[in-house]
Amino acid sequence: RTVYVNGDYLPEEDAKVSVFDRSFLMADGVYEVTSVLGGKLIDFDGHLARLERSLGELDMQKPEAFDDLLEIHRELVRRNDLEDGMIYLQVSRGSAGDRDFIFPDPKEVKPTLVLFTQSKPGLADSPAAKTGIKVISIEDIRWGRRDIKTVQLLYPSMGKMMAIKAGCDDAWLVEDGFVTEGTSNNAYIVKDGKIITRQLSNDILHGITRAAVLRFAREAQMEVEERSFTLDEAKAADEAFITSASQFVMPVVEIDGVTLGDGAPGKVAPRLREIYLDESL
Ligand code: PDD
Repeated sequence: RTVYVNGDYLPEEDAKVSVFDRSFLMADGVYEVTSVLGGKLIDFDGHLARLERSLGELDMQKPEAFDDLLEIHRELVRRNDLEDGMIYLQVSRGSAGDRDFIFPDPKEVKPTLVLFTQSKPGLADSPAAKTGIKVISIEDIRWGRRDIKTVQLLYPSMGKMMAIKAGCDDAWLVEDGFVTEGTSNNAYIVKDGKIITRQLSNDILHGITRAAVLRFAREAQMEVEERSFTLDEAKAADEAFITSASQFVMPVVEIDGVTLGDGAPGKVAPRLREIYLDESL
């Protein structure tokens, strides 16, 4: 596999960053995941815009190659013959050659830019989309700037492990009784035909897939309400689902052992998945 590091396309075993890189020492880095279907990038512009916003919110410099990112994504797809899968991109504040809580002077460091591909053959035909997934709920103890896509993913990673230990697939995060989002996806419920998902704020990541799916839902005359919903409301919902760049629209059929509807994906989530995949390709 060919990996991009700071201007070079390298075999993965030669792709290296400093041990002093601030993303390694301080989680001082941001990332994006863009999916690739049939060799085509999905929602690239949205991911690029969010990357720019994440960098700005953390006072991080744009990497020199920022304006070439589309070309770098395409080049990696070409070099790795990527049909279906993902491109992972990470920017860190760089390495000042030491460990320091103080941000290094932007004149003295360059941000680190890394991109690599992950092949996932048949990504769009995931069997889980037909059966739906099961989630557990856990307390949302993450920091207060979840709108910034940082590489601080330890708690989401622990949440996913807790779900797997419980025989489930993923976890929904709950704060003051209200669902914020999934470990690595946005969360939705459907009640009486209405799609309900938490409003945008610093409490959740502003999902690129979320924006597209809500736009398609409204275009298809489906009713959408952006507001917080409780875990109890979710357990009493007709349907639930999640969205993300890697899972598109994925039905949720069980929450904390409570079966939603008849335990199979309902009407809304599979329809939105189909529309999203059709429109994105
Ligand atoms: N995760 N919420 C969180 C906490 C996320 O980490 C993600 C994405 C989303 C969905 O955003 P988008 O639709 O832009 O992918 C919501 C990526 C896929 C990941 O960490 O792998």
